[in-house]
Amino acid sequence: MKYIIGNWKSNKNHLEVEDWFQKFSQFFVKEKATSFNNLEIIVCPPYIHLFLTKNLRDKYKLPIKLGAQDISPFDSGAYTGAISAKMLSEFVEYVIIGHSERRTHFGEDDKILSQKVTMAKDASLEPIFCIPDKTSFIPDSISIIGYEPVWAIGTGKTDTPENADGVAVFVKQKNPGSALIYGGSVNPENALNFLTTKHIDGILIGGASLDPIKFWEIIVNASKI
Ligand code: PGA
Repeated sequence: MKYIIGNWKSNKNHLEVEDWFQKFSQFFVKEKATSFNNLEIIVCPPYIHLFLTKNLRDKYKLPIKLGAQDISPFDSGAYTGAISAKMLSEFVEYVIIGHSERRTHFGEDDKILSQKVTMAKDASLEPIFCIPDKTSFIPDSISIIGYEPVWAIGTGKTDTPENADGVAVFVKQKNPGSALIYGGSVNPENALNFLTTKHIDGILIGGASLDPIKFWEIIVNASKI
């Protein structure tokens, strides 16, 4: 089973979300015969679109799961601006924690990331825990680890599949039973290079997931592995 995860980051207004789902769902209708059983497809929209994306996903009967891009380190309550695990659990099954953009622009450190993981797990949300390199701290019992070298994010430069596969071996040895996914400038042209390595269990896609055609191309190619 391979994870195909789209991270929309801080993009799209509600009309653009509707347009994305409308186009994306047409592909699924056309490819009725294709089986996506080997894939876990997850889309992570901004918080404000979770309600809409869930409704559109259900309306078009799409075989995709939803994830959040972040989570509050606190419970529900007097935490202005924060979205708690409990609130998220109404909409998503997954949550990205520790993305390098959160670490860099929002100053999130290992302590706060650990708190976020605890919150997610207590609400039965599956963390997708991102690390910028193989020696980064990873909390206990994380099932999905995203390896995303900072220099590869949004730059058009990817790590080599060989190196990323080596990172997967290293990280999985230290975190037995976990899945390792690669992220950083993945697109329809290079996605299979990572998905066909021995130890990489999926991909995390930023920029290319904003375009339903590109995201679809990646999915349909991955479905044939
Ligand atoms: P990118 O982003 O695909 O645009 O490089 C990946 C990520 O940050 O998850």
